[in-house]
Amino acid sequence: MNKSRRDWLRTIAAASMSLYSRFAIAKEIQPKPRDLSWKFPPENPFGAEFPELDSLTTGSWWKKTFAGPYPPPSMNVPRHEVVAFALYTIDRSTLKLTAQLFPLMPDESHHVRLEILRGRRWQELAQAAVVTPGWSAHFRIENWDGTRDVPYRVRHGRRASFAGILRRDPIDKDEIVVANMSCNSSRTPGLRREIVDNLRLHDPDLLFFAGDQTYRHTEHTAGWLEFGLQFRDILRDRPTVTIPDDHDVGQPNLWGENGKRSSLRGNSDGGYIYPVEYVNMVQRQQTWHLPDPHDPVPVERGIGVYFTRLRVGGVDFAILEDRKFKTGPAQRLPQLGPRPDHINDSAYDPRSIDKPGLDLLGTRQMKFLSDWGEDWSGSLMKAVLSQTAFCGAAHLHGPRQERLLADLDCNGWPQQGRAEALKAVRRAWAVHLCGDQHLAVVVKHGIDQFGDGPYAFSSPALVNSFYPRWWRPADDRPGANPVLASTLEWTGDYHDGLGNKISMMAYANPADIADEKRRGDGYGIVRFQKRSDEVTFECWPRFSHATEGRSAQFSGWPITIKRCDNDGRRVTGWLPEFVFASEIRPVIQVIDESTDEVLYTVRARDNRFQPRVYSSGTFAVKIGIDAPTALTFAGLEPRSQAAAEVRVVSI
Ligand SMILES: [Fe+2]
Repeated sequence: MNKSRRDWLRTIAAASMSLYSRFAIAKEIQPKPRDLSWKFPPENPFGAEFPELDSLTTGSWWKKTFAGPYPPPSMNVPRHEVVAFALYTIDRSTLKLTAQLFPLMPDESHHVRLEILRGRRWQELAQAAVVTPGWSAHFRIENWDGTRDVPYRVRHGRRASFAGILRRDPIDKDEIVVANMSCNSSRTPGLRREIVDNLRLHDPDLLFFAGDQTYRHTEHTAGWLEFGLQFRDILRDRPTVTIPDDHDVGQPNLWGENGKRSSLRGNSDGGYIYPVEYVNMVQRQQTWHLPDPHDPVPVERGIGVYFTRLRVGGVDFAILEDRKFKTGPAQRLPQLGPRPDHINDSAYDPRSIDKPGLDLLGTRQMKFLSDWGEDWSGSLMKAVLSQTAFCGAAHLHGPRQERLLADLDCNGWPQQGRAEALKAVRRAWAVHLCGDQHLAVVVKHGIDQFGDGPYAFSSPALVNSFYPRWWRPADDRPGANPVLASTLEWTGDYHDGLGNKISMMAYANPADIADEKRRGDGYGIVRFQKRSDEVTFECWPRFSHATEGRSAQFSGWPITIKRCDNDGRRVTGWLPEFVFASEIRPVIQVIDESTDEVLYTVRARDNRFQPRVYSSGTFAVKIGIDAPTALTFAGLEPRSQAAAEVRVVSI
């Protein structure tokens, strides 16, 4: 059945209305939700042709055992443990929380309750029905007071409970700490105690899992429960962003191509191989708890979208889906290697694969990124979160260390889409955090010139037993402009295999993939320092001791950058310095009047801001408190920094 865009909008509006009315702020206990949507998941809920999908948690799941290596944890837990874990975010006074349950028995209640501690008494805030397939339950509470820590628990039946703390927004902290994580190999089952213990020492304000939370492909619910058990002791008491990547939806690679169906082995024809209901279940489990989608219209076939923004402690995170809209390479490009997505022909011209009509982030997401960049409400600094890197910063791939010239399964391709996305990130002086690559790197992107773009940090694989990668230039030589005093051999300016300019700042190559302590497993810590207006990227080995400080990090880390250096264009002149009342940190936008191009829209570091420009001509400066909408100064001409005038401005 084909639904028109308008039908989808109606469906979404109706669904969200019922959700809002169901969970509107609970000053009193909410009535028990109606059971219309409840359905015990039968055998093969995704169709008879997909009996392998979620088989461990559907039908007579309690009779099933996992056959194969690396078994997931048992799905049949003592009944007082059926609430496995919970994930939440709070943005603009709305709490969204997902509770993840183990599969229930047919005769068990399918309701869970969210309770918070008020004074010394637990108070029920709302109830929710468990959604199947997938065994998740979802709470949306408006008018949430984010100024204080609130203990919560999710309960099922009389005995099952999962408890944590809904943290207050750390807006008064100078340093906002984000854990940057990805790629949690399912070939190494068991707990992640060493990582969680370290994370508790770092005490992040936000956890970001960029994808490949599980590699169980056809058994997402079992894999997701495994991930939850591994990380729940850090998840339970802080906001968390989880976004699914290719392996989470059961694919080796993912070029979502607006939701179409993929039928080619390796999926390089674009789209999804598994049914829409399976993809939507994965997205529901991993992303329902994020702030409401910015533009919730599903893509083709009814696959949902979740790209959105989240503010934590004055740092504004754009959460992207860099795989969903992207075009697949097969049948669009000449095959230049053993697979449609791998290029090994050293004679190929990277420009030949940058064809018109290829999408990276897609029109809707680019519009979101652009709007987000100009809205600084509730934020002093910005960061973009997505699955993978806007470059191919790896040379050797896989356990046999095969050298590959270019891999199209990264955001370095299509190059034009990369340039547009990075320009939008640069306009907001944002950094980019991602995962996917199984190789930790910090790069400074070049768009037209080396170093003119933003900084980006790809996290290491949490557990790197799936597919290792290395940074090792073919000539074994450092690039131009290497990082001064770095302990690493190959830093500096390079072209990746797609012709993109990158400056390698730091990497964390596996030393020995047979030894899990020297395999490059680890996690990133990113510190947003509001007073100094700097960002520090740290990279910690999985088995390090966070108490030992900087020397316990991978060699070459940490890297500290100034926020304004996310825009590295060569400065050719300065506009008048604007000075405001002492308590004001305005938002400043600079526009090239000859092209109407917005050069940047940024929050000033303090109450003075002198706009810089990158060419001659005349420029307009727009100024406001949270967006550049209050004042406009037109026809400004650049001068040298010392010669430019000072203007005292009140807004
Ligand atoms: Fe991965």
